[in-house]
Amino acid sequence: MNVNRNVSLKSFHTFGIDVPCDFLVEASTINELTEAYQKTEWLLLPKLVLGKGSNVLFTEPFHGVVVINGLLGKSVVESVDHVHLHVSSGEDWPGLVEWTLGENIHGLENLALIPGCVGSAPIQNIGAYGVELKDICEYVEYLNLETFTITRLMAEQCLFGYRDSIFKHQLLGKVVIVAVGLKLPKKWQPNLSYGPLKEEKELLTSPKSVFEYICDIRRSKLPDPLVTGNAGSFFKNPVLSLECFNRLKAIYPELSGFSMQDGGVKIAAGWLIDRCGLKGYQIGGALVHPQQALVLVNSGGATPNDVLDLAWFIKQSVKDKYGVELEHEVRFFDSECETNLDAIFSENNCE
Ligand code: FAD
Ligand code: EPU
Repeated sequence: MNVNRNVSLKSFHTFGIDVPCDFLVEASTINELTEAYQKTEWLLLPKLVLGKGSNVLFTEPFHGVVVINGLLGKSVVESVDHVHLHVSSGEDWPGLVEWTLGENIHGLENLALIPGCVGSAPIQNIGAYGVELKDICEYVEYLNLETFTITRLMAEQCLFGYRDSIFKHQLLGKVVIVAVGLKLPKKWQPNLSYGPLKEEKELLTSPKSVFEYICDIRRSKLPDPLVTGNAGSFFKNPVLSLECFNRLKAIYPELSGFSMQDGGVKIAAGWLIDRCGLKGYQIGGALVHPQQALVLVNSGGATPNDVLDLAWFIKQSVKDKYGVELEHEVRFFDSECETNLDAIFSENNCE
């Protein structure tokens, strides 16, 4: 296990902000992972496992150990109607999607080009273009950080929801995901339920055509983190009660909503932010993306405070105009643990 001290996290997260951590290690086996968590000198230090860092913001220097997930490997087993993949958690998600297409395995094409590791995918139940991880996940295996044993949770035990799972609640900070099982039907059934895909039914007749179409939309809509630092959608799309949605819709007839299974209605946070006139709004080096208001970018030299001030300003603006509370999708970490916008700004207000 290679240990590095006082390392900048700039190249270990897609926001590309220059924030240091005290120790950084890459674990490429479960033994190394266990060693990082059991090392006597580090026992009392905070620890944080990181995949590709595409959904995190470091709000302060991290005074602990950052463990980079380097667990690699995958295997394929077939049953009568399905292909079953067992994938180690450090594998690259977009790489896996592309690999499956090359192997004539389909079902992941709607989830093309979502940055991150395979093991991070269940945490927020990644989703795009009408498909969520829950639709193809068979199981998730994790290392229990108390007992250092491996447990397999079947998909229905993972409590998947919109950008949500058991790993953000009961199992938060208690486990490291080490592998994911995916179950993909052998018979291809395109999922063209998402708005723009429906209109292209005639063109989208193979997994490859869906994959390419989705890659094109994503490249045209979302900034490439290799060029411009960002963490994808900064906020989740809010889910309102039907009553609340109808009240807003009466005032803003152009507002659209998507009905959820639990009776709530999901609305587009990007639309709300855009209608507050905030596209292109900038604080220091943090900028609301001029084409996609839900994405905050590091326009160069952004500090954590620039991003936090911008995010807070957006949250307050949307609340004042629409009475809707935005919740950030991006995970925040301070010097030792996870935090959030409300905690940070309510602390500041008390000073
Ligand atoms: P990280 O950012 O490294 O980690 C995220 C969180 O998971 C952290 O709290 C970390 O501690 C924890 N974690 C990481 N690995 C493990 C593990 N093995 N065990 C336990 N905890 C762990 N998301 C979508 O859902 N849909 C999209 O369409 C989408 N588009 C995006 C586009 C762009 C340009 C970007 C930058 C991001 C996008 N995202 C999207 C968000 C991001 O891709 C996902 O959240 C992804 O799953 C994060 O993976 P990661 O490996 O980078 O996780
Ligand atoms: N919109 C605006 N102005 C904007 C941005 C969006 O009016 O500046 C409107 C669009 O016109 C559209 C609606 O908002 O009517 C939704 O926009 P879009 O289709 O671009 O999707 P999104 O809600 O911004 C969500 C996910 C993405 C995912 C896409 C495709 C969340 C928080 N975000 O984005 O996931 O890729 O749908 O399924 O659910 C991520 O989680 O990081 C992410 C990128």
